[in-house]
Amino acid sequence: MEKFPVISLEKINGNERKATMEQIKDACENWGFFELVNHGIEPEFMDTVERLTKEHYRKVMEQRFKELVESKGLEAVQTEVSDMDWESTFHLRHLPVSNISEVPDLHDDYRKVMKEFALKLEKLAEELLDLLCENLGLEKGYLKNAFYGSRGPTFGTKVSNYPPCPKPDLIKGLRAHTDAGGIILLFQDDKVSGLQLLKDGQWIDVPPMRHSIVVNIGDQLEVITNGKYKSVLHRVIAQTDGTRMSIASFYNPGSDAVIYPAPTLVEKEAEEKNQVYPKFVFEDYMKLYTTVKFQPKEPRFEAMKAVEANVVLGPIATA
Ligand SMILES: [Fe+2]
Repeated sequence: MEKFPVISLEKINGNERKATMEQIKDACENWGFFELVNHGIEPEFMDTVERLTKEHYRKVMEQRFKELVESKGLEAVQTEVSDMDWESTFHLRHLPVSNISEVPDLHDDYRKVMKEFALKLEKLAEELLDLLCENLGLEKGYLKNAFYGSRGPTFGTKVSNYPPCPKPDLIKGLRAHTDAGGIILLFQDDKVSGLQLLKDGQWIDVPPMRHSIVVNIGDQLEVITNGKYKSVLHRVIAQTDGTRMSIASFYNPGSDAVIYPAPTLVEKEAEEKNQVYPKFVFEDYMKLYTTVKFQPKEPRFEAMKAVEANVVLGPIATA
């Protein structure tokens, strides 16, 4: 079996740039996922994020989750649960406007650290987008600009914990889906595994690795690259032992950004065969996505195509 791509950014600006760019290209084209090491975010800082996240879970979230499980009788289910996930989560928004100061129950230190973490991840996401531009033959800044809309990108974090689950075959940690947005950066538990992606019809583990950042491609990059890069189905299998931490940050288009295939990436052949991805406002895609997240993505693209045929997109305000 092919090996899950682990890529070091250590020499991206040195004598291994070409080889590193090639690894990123291959991962984007063939996996939709890769794991980054030496990405520039200090290991000690990541340890602090992990410690505070786990502390917050134990102090604030764990009891709530136990109560939820009890109230729904999830411990004793006998048949597959298809409308719920075995996860405890909360969300933070960083861009266009941060909501961290309003999120309840967070310790001040934790708020501060998550704000700092988001800044580092935002920078890394933008660096990655430019590396993708280079590999795709797009001008520097193309993807960042494509996401910009009138207020800049949307950037947020979903903090999840997957507690030990007595019936992992009957209830998923997180059901299979592709991510709706742009590029996703994940800081996952280095001991408790569970994240899997679907490749060539097989579920493959995304291996836990200390201080790494897992990167994956969302639906919007699939559209902009006209399918050269694809978002890939993934899921979380809850484990019977250990609580899995997962901090996923989503660098997405602004809500009014108009998303469409980069003209230079639409080949004549695709045009002739009517295999061009749709053009739409990101917010409209998200409205649809939230109702069909756990269904295949192709009908989503088709639905946006149908809308596109009926609506002429007006000019987007830039002020
Ligand atoms: Fe996801």
